[in-house]
Amino acid sequence: MAKDVIIACDFSSKEEVIDFLNKFSEEKLYLKVGMELFYAEGPEIIREIKKRGHKIFLDLKLHDIPNTVKKAMSVLANLDVDMCNVHAAGTVAMMEAAIQGLTKTDGSRPLLIAVTQLTSTSEERMKEDLLIDKPIDKVVMHYAGNAKKAGLDGVVCSPLEAGKVHDVCGQEFLTVTPGVRFADGDMGDQVRVMTPSQARKIGSDYIVVGRPITGAEDPVAAYHRCVKEFLGM
Ligand code: C5P
Repeated sequence: MAKDVIIACDFSSKEEVIDFLNKFSEEKLYLKVGMELFYAEGPEIIREIKKRGHKIFLDLKLHDIPNTVKKAMSVLANLDVDMCNVHAAGTVAMMEAAIQGLTKTDGSRPLLIAVTQLTSTSEERMKEDLLIDKPIDKVVMHYAGNAKKAGLDGVVCSPLEAGKVHDVCGQEFLTVTPGVRFADGDMGDQVRVMTPSQARKIGSDYIVVGRPITGAEDPVAAYHRCVKEFLGM
């Protein structure tokens, strides 16, 4: 199964992204583009990154009625992204529609993963604001099961949940995990973190790493360190 380090490109403009990419020479990177960059620069930023031969996880977390999500997904598939995502809270029907929209006429499609509960949502807020009474780990696993039922490829989750997701949904079901820090690095605002080698041991398939690479004095060296620790090479 493919395992990789995905760099969270949390920049606000094309210039910053290009500056960052220009530091690398031969490397073919996997980059996560989120809402801020996509809404600021539009589809052109995706084309620019793809032109340089990199892969893209387009992190827009779609959540709407099935028909709208299906149509939006076919637009994203035409952008030739490699991975995108939806909120599992949109229901199994919405996730199935997303898959239909993403699938091209030749049957190929980008990977599709689901957000279960955002890690910023506590059990208390889930209960008070969303009226969901079940323990949060049960909800996360149930949403992961729904994503699998709908035919999705995996979920975004904390590295701490990756092992359990594999136990419940199978080893082939992908776990994409942010919250990764070097053992000697700054935690920033992340609370529950793991090192790249711990994430590998626990079975993460893709780690999403932002500031430990983008904010490093030498981003290229930090990226290579991360790949080496995660892939054990
Ligand atoms: O800079 P850092 O490594 O903390 O970046 C992590 C990336 O993963 C950010 O783009 C952040 O929005 C995203 N993310 C996260 N936790 C989640 C879901 C996404 O940190 N639960």
